[in-house]
Amino acid sequence: MFTEKKAWWKEAVVYQIYPRSFADSNGDGIGDLNGITEHLDYLKNLGVDVIWCSPVYASPNHDNGYDISDYRAIMKEFGTMEDFDHMLSEIHARGMKLVMDLVANHSSDEHAWFVESRKGRDNPYRDYYIWRDGVNGGPPNNWGSCFSGSAWEYDEVSGQYYLHLFTKEQPDLNWANPKVRDGIFDMMCWWCDKGIDGFRMDVIGMIGKESFEDGPVSPGALYGDFSPFCMHTHTTHAYLQEMRRRVLDKYDLLTVGETSGNTDNALQYANNEGTELNMVFGFEHNDGLNDGTELGKWSDHGAPLAEVRKTLNRWQMSLQGKAWNTVYLGNHDQPRQVSRYGNDSELFRTVSAKMLATLIHTLRGTPYVYQGEELGMTNIYFSSVDEYQDVENHNAWHQWVESGRVDAQDMLRYFARISRDNARTPMQWNTQQNAGFTTGTPWLPVNRNYLFINAEDQVKDPNSVYHYYRRLIELRHNNPVIVYGLFTPLLEDDPNVWAYKREYEGKTLTVALNWTDHKVPCTLMDETEGVELISNYPSHQKGILQPYEAIVKLL
Ligand code: GLC
Ligand code: CA
Repeated sequence: MFTEKKAWWKEAVVYQIYPRSFADSNGDGIGDLNGITEHLDYLKNLGVDVIWCSPVYASPNHDNGYDISDYRAIMKEFGTMEDFDHMLSEIHARGMKLVMDLVANHSSDEHAWFVESRKGRDNPYRDYYIWRDGVNGGPPNNWGSCFSGSAWEYDEVSGQYYLHLFTKEQPDLNWANPKVRDGIFDMMCWWCDKGIDGFRMDVIGMIGKESFEDGPVSPGALYGDFSPFCMHTHTTHAYLQEMRRRVLDKYDLLTVGETSGNTDNALQYANNEGTELNMVFGFEHNDGLNDGTELGKWSDHGAPLAEVRKTLNRWQMSLQGKAWNTVYLGNHDQPRQVSRYGNDSELFRTVSAKMLATLIHTLRGTPYVYQGEELGMTNIYFSSVDEYQDVENHNAWHQWVESGRVDAQDMLRYFARISRDNARTPMQWNTQQNAGFTTGTPWLPVNRNYLFINAEDQVKDPNSVYHYYRRLIELRHNNPVIVYGLFTPLLEDDPNVWAYKREYEGKTLTVALNWTDHKVPCTLMDETEGVELISNYPSHQKGILQPYEAIVKLL
């Protein structure tokens, strides 16, 4: 047994806002900070403790704000620094906290540092980025970018290449240069001094580039894999420990790293000794669901119970007592969770959304709710490539379809299933025009199902997905076993049911979830004593679980 150290960020529920799609206050079709401020009571009533905002900094928006041109300014479309300060004080006035996205593996190519850097080899900012000479008339090595194509861009002016692990408008910062670290750490302190409550650190596992050899090329792939030299390296950990000493330890923050990687990596980043981060997002249960081909995420691969459960149970078991965990299924980089893991048909949408909610709120770790998930919002299922805005789709289309390597219909089917734009359609507030998101033309179309999936209706309906989330959050606040309880998997080989228990200070919580759209045999809950804390069905049947049924009991 172990005693878990208490911390506010373990007890909290985090709600992620994708500002561009949350609420538009001025009719230009783009969500903004004042739009967020106007809806804070909605979030307070839901009960969330922390808001994580995807990037709100100045950006030319090649990757929707994940390409920052000024870390100390607000994106024009989102408002002004005064709007930000007002939003922050209104969040604090309601007893909630704000976590900012820190995108510091790379900046925008319009950031002043890069503008200088690309002026020439002798520029004092040259070494703020990663420049290399070409090899044999081509790029310095075979690395591919996460968004298709080479990870190197040739620069006419100096005749050298710069590294970009994402789009070419997102050059990678050179963390090996102490001036870069000084600049980033100063900027972080500047935001902390303003009173923000934490950072979600974008692809932070990639900051420590250790060497620039060719990466392994998997069969059929066009480029080599950079990860052996750039991911979870010794230097990445050293930089995070330095950040911890120079910034994070001076404040009381929630820190969560977007690191990907395996449980061993997570144990290092989020270790209980507190030398690096509070917690990290694992990707194995999301990005690990694919056919293992050169197309990576672009596949028809579903989310079978056996695979998802095995991965998440392993994360639960490996981390407990040693490192804090996060629990999430959806975010702005994943499709809608009810469409992917549940069932978004009219018949099962509500029950399956509630079943998935039960999972993320009763596993061990801090739960992250992505905007609209609390309404059971679904994928949009675009049918043509032109409907997509996301650069990831267009680059993949170019690399695989336009080159004749993949059939267009197949790719469109993969896009419809897994594209990030599925999660980026505007928040569905009510049944008015554009779901109440904007009075103008939304930057990305509103899902037409807003007429029956929207916040206003669900707030009025006690049986809605929204109220189910509200009750789960309340249960977390009132039952320490949900936060701190030891996790033990149950029925690990059951073909249909995900079950586990949590134990803490003499209390036992038992959870059973039917992952399927049919009735399945299960006697676990009949045999479990205790009171029912929550369920997505009003009544139960002996010996079976109903489609997507979730039951939680406390003894
Ligand atoms: C992270 C972000 C994603 C972005 C990428 C590059 O994965 O979550 O949205 O495109 O980093 O910054
Ligand atoms: Ca706006």
